[in-house]
Amino acid sequence: MILNKSYEISELNVLEVLNFENKQYKANIRTYKEMKDLFYYKDTVYDENLILYYVFRNLSNEEIEDALKEEDLRIDLTVMKDIVIMEEYNKTYGHYHPEASPGRSFPELYQILKGKVMFVLQKSYNNVIDELLLIEAKEGETVIIPPNYGHNMINLNNDLSITLNLVSSRFIPIYSKYDTLKGASVYILKENKIAINKNYILNTQPKFMKTKLKNENIFNDLIKDRRKFRFLNWPYDIMNYFEFLEETFINMQFL
Ligand SMILES: [Fe+2]
Repeated sequence: MILNKSYEISELNVLEVLNFENKQYKANIRTYKEMKDLFYYKDTVYDENLILYYVFRNLSNEEIEDALKEEDLRIDLTVMKDIVIMEEYNKTYGHYHPEASPGRSFPELYQILKGKVMFVLQKSYNNVIDELLLIEAKEGETVIIPPNYGHNMINLNNDLSITLNLVSSRFIPIYSKYDTLKGASVYILKENKIAINKNYILNTQPKFMKTKLKNENIFNDLIKDRRKFRFLNWPYDIMNYFEFLEETFINMQFL
C-alpha cells in the first residue's frame, strides 16, 4: 500500500509492504494462531496462518525525522482486516504502557485514517476492572489514550481499518496481562453485543464514549508545533488529565 503525508492511501491490494514518502516498510503481522485464545469463541476452525492485522513501525520522512528523534516520539500504522471470528470483530492484542513517572503511564494518540474502530480502555488492579471505556471513532477523528489504561482496538467496519499512532519511543509495551488473562476484559461482538471475559472481575459498567476531535495532520503538526505532543513523554505535568484532554485536544463525551 501507499500512504502520503496528506493521508492519501492507495494500492490496498498489497498489505505486507507500505510505501511512505520514498521509504519502504515491511509489516509486522499478527496471525490467528497467535490470537486464537483471545477470542470469545475458542473452539472455532480457522486457518492458523490467517493474518488479522499488520503493523508498520517508525514511519518518518525528512521533514519530521528530527522532531521525532529530539522529542523521543514514534509513529506507527496499523491495518486491520475486516475479519469476523464467529460473531466477534477483529481486534488487536492489547497492552499496557509502563509508567513515565510513579503512578502515571505513557499516553498515546491515535488517528483513524480509514474505517470505524472502537478502543477498549481498561483500568485494572490485577484482574479487577475499575474503569472501562469503549470509545468509538471513525475516519478523520483522533483519540487519546490517557495514562494508566490498557488498550486494544476493534475493527467495527466491514472493510479494512487503518490507524496511525503517535507515542513515546522511550518504552516497550507490556503484553503480559493480556497474555495471562487472554485479552481485554470484554469481547465486542456484532449487533452491539458485549461479552465479558470471565478471567476478569468487572467492578464497573462500561462507559460508551465518542471523541469529538477532528483530524489534524500529525505530520504537519510535528513540523508546526512539536511542543503540543510533549505530554506523550511528560504526562505528569498535567494534574487533571481529562480536563486537559477536553481543553486542549479532545472532548470525549459520555453518550
Ligand atoms: Fe499503546
